[in-house]
Amino acid sequence: MSVSILIVDDSPEDREVLRRTLAEFPGEEIATYEASDEASCLMRLHELRHINCVLLDYSLPGRDGLKALSGIFSINPDLAVVMITGYGSEHIAVEAMKLGAQDYLSKSMITADNLQRAIVNATERTEMRRKIREQQESLQSFAHVLVHDLRSPLRSIRTAIDGLIEDLPGEVLTDNSEILDFVLDGAERVDSLIVALEGYTQVDGEQNRFAVVDLNLQVDAVRANLMVDLKAQNARLVSSGELPTIYCSAPQIGQLIQNIVSNGIKYNRSEVPEVRISARQTETHWLIEFSDNGIGIEANSLNRIFDPFHRLHRDQEFDGTGLGLATCKKIAERHNGSLYCRSEVGVGSVFTLALPALPE
Ligand SMILES: Nc1ncnc2c1ncn2[C@@H]1O[C@H](COP(=O)(O)OP(=O)(O)OP(=O)(O)O)[C@@H](O)[C@H]1O
Ligand SMILES: [Mg+2]
Repeated sequence: MSVSILIVDDSPEDREVLRRTLAEFPGEEIATYEASDEASCLMRLHELRHINCVLLDYSLPGRDGLKALSGIFSINPDLAVVMITGYGSEHIAVEAMKLGAQDYLSKSMITADNLQRAIVNATERTEMRRKIREQQESLQSFAHVLVHDLRSPLRSIRTAIDGLIEDLPGEVLTDNSEILDFVLDGAERVDSLIVALEGYTQVDGEQNRFAVVDLNLQVDAVRANLMVDLKAQNARLVSSGELPTIYCSAPQIGQLIQNIVSNGIKYNRSEVPEVRISARQTETHWLIEFSDNGIGIEANSLNRIFDPFHRLHRDQEFDGTGLGLATCKKIAERHNGSLYCRSEVGVGSVFTLALPALPE
């Protein structure tokens, strides 16, 4: 392990304890630096770009250590931070971890072993997070290129076909209308696939910020978006009107609701297709249930419907790209939640979205 560590603590005695403990690490080359408050911590991080781990005292003067975290990550999002908490402030550790610190250690627990373990743990986690972020970024830029490079030849195909339709004599058009429809339909299908694929790869993107969101309003928006489909199929979207308010990305949860509701109406042969949305609460989660009176899903297919591109029906029967539920599942997981389904063939399906409840 080769690390440069910044000790941030307002007490010179506590900094001394940490420095001595670090010096006890067997066979390690450790460079230590010190700061006594948030401002000097940020300044040192600006100056010393090679620092890869910060030992951060929770009780810094003025602003507390928790607030300092955001400043630290704005300078370098790949820094490993171990929060050093005082006696009885372990709950702070949980907050610190939520804000991005990788580990914590109570002052009363500081020994060479514990400190070394926390630093190794924090730096390894940071390294892993950096790799995941890089992979996500490369996937997103790949998706971006895919969307732009594939859509433009598709546009050319459409334009060429439109030109043909204008120029060809009537009887040739009539004789070949099936082929032309086939080509246009194919181009249309590839286009929706590209758009769906782009949506799928962007679920984890930074642009989807979280906020406190009333799900009743999201359902109203979905009802308005699907108005034409609902009317065309004589279908109903029924909501208990008592859905909760949760902390989420509104566009993503709206997209999830819309995908599940439109599946419930699409895979449905009832006279009046219906999707009912209701919610109930467990100790830790909200369970949002979407039940339909559709065709149902065989038990042995239930675990595969969430896989990308897995479809149980052919396009001739029901149209689709096979990315709807895969995207929904990714969205649920990004919200620390889950999405699952139970179903009975010929009766209907119930999709359950489990999301962490807001603290009281
Ligand atoms: N409510 C449902 N009832 C019955 N089958 C369903 C239901 N929802 C999904 N399925 C089955 O699961 C498959 C995957 O659904 P998913 O929403 O991922 O894709 P899709 O509807 O085929 O395409 P897309 O939503 O991307 O346009 C569907 O093809 C369908 O066979
Ligand atoms: Mg779908």
